[in-house]
Amino acid sequence: MQVIHVASEMTPVAKVGGLGDVLMGLTRELSWKGHETLAIIPNYGVVDRHWLTPTGRVDTFDTCFDGMTHRATVTYYTLYNDITVGLLDTEWGYWKQQQKIYGNNDEVASFLFFSRAVADWLVQTRRRPNILHVHDWQTAIIPLICRSLDRTKDLASMRSILTVHNFEYQGCCHWGDIARVGLFPLNFPDPSILQDPWHPCLNIIKAGILSVDLVTTVSPTYSQEVKTAEGGRGLHHVLSSLGDKFLGVLNGLDYAFWNPEIDPFLFERFSLSLGMNRIAKAKQENKKQLFQQLGLHVCDDRPLVASITRLVPQKGIYLIQNAFFRAESLGMQCVLLGSVADAGTEPLFRALDTELRRKGNGAVLLMSDEMMAHRLYGAADIFVVPSLFEPCGLTQLIALKYGAIPVVRRTGGLADTVVDVDGGASAQSNGFVFDQPDQPGFDSALLRALILFSRNRDRWGEYMLRGMKQDFSWHNPGMKYLELYQRLHKL
Ligand code: GLC
Repeated sequence: MQVIHVASEMTPVAKVGGLGDVLMGLTRELSWKGHETLAIIPNYGVVDRHWLTPTGRVDTFDTCFDGMTHRATVTYYTLYNDITVGLLDTEWGYWKQQQKIYGNNDEVASFLFFSRAVADWLVQTRRRPNILHVHDWQTAIIPLICRSLDRTKDLASMRSILTVHNFEYQGCCHWGDIARVGLFPLNFPDPSILQDPWHPCLNIIKAGILSVDLVTTVSPTYSQEVKTAEGGRGLHHVLSSLGDKFLGVLNGLDYAFWNPEIDPFLFERFSLSLGMNRIAKAKQENKKQLFQQLGLHVCDDRPLVASITRLVPQKGIYLIQNAFFRAESLGMQCVLLGSVADAGTEPLFRALDTELRRKGNGAVLLMSDEMMAHRLYGAADIFVVPSLFEPCGLTQLIALKYGAIPVVRRTGGLADTVVDVDGGASAQSNGFVFDQPDQPGFDSALLRALILFSRNRDRWGEYMLRGMKQDFSWHNPGMKYLELYQRLHKL
């Protein structure tokens, strides 16, 4: 099977969030399973090249932007020996000039241009993959553009699949933006599929949904939620009309990178084979050293409650802020590692940091720091993810692997991966789950966790071991995607 993935991110060369992790984990799994897999991303100025080994192969082709023809290239590299990555750019370096992945001026035009260029590359270089797999609005329109450029129907046998990682971001634009990549309503057999259902604008993700062969999202529960008026962000009718052409496939986690047994960032590594007591000891040591690094003192009888998140409302950050403010009375220590704070949220979390440090209960770190994240997972006893909605969520899966018990809201992928320990006897129980996305809801689950930690360390240890044992690797999702590719290929 020949599969091409196209996306706006890929870990570790160009990462902002979970999309990058999925692209890396899934393409690596597919090539491990013996399939010819290629990932194409823009050649941003921020691409971290030290992970990439040049292969010497370059494709050259022509593309179109702002009424001009541009010479463009896809340059091939290998990543971790087993993934092939193609960096796409114009010969004069349109993407090379970009110092960030999102939020650039002209962002929509930039991703439309990228989409047009990928379609030109496919048509002109005579690549004929079995499957073209695109991700999120930034690349969702590529299959539709391919169809309008492929006059000789050379790509007729290629099947397309779109994975939507978050329906919040839909790619709103206008015909003027589409015209910049040389396309007009006349180029589309049915231009109305681009129309946004709510607003007077075009909607790229909707056009993608209605033009690909199969649409997936990143967990089964989220795939149901987005078919409701509350969850669908205006697309619930469109998604409901797809029938079995739309489904949820739970993401996997890359255990080559997220594994406390071999994690180079941890002060003290640990694995299941050590058993409950020695794992607890190792985690305690990790906590001591992390706190030393942060200039804090460990309180031995208090659990460390951690959160690693982008500071956006989706993640339930005000619930976290409120609970962490009460660390002293709740009898916990807490560390929050938060990225992309804006002018509205930053002062709130700076104030939380001051309060936590004043009483010696923890800290807030406003940055994204890979090493710090690994150390925090390695040290944490409880990991909170009170998201208002969560398509899949990867942090709760990492927490489980590192022996930190998750406290999550029952939504999207969190609902599919965390089973409440108080919900009746189940071999899957691995955390604490709440329903209401408000303070009493979150507090009740967090309190249950704090009480179990302080009163019954043996039961706590059993849940910790159970979480560490669970398999959320890419193996099963990889099989599932292959099954879907095969199903499409036979169509
Ligand atoms: C988005 C979603 C997150 C998901 C990730 C990878 O970032 O918000 O829930 O885990 O994509 O699919």
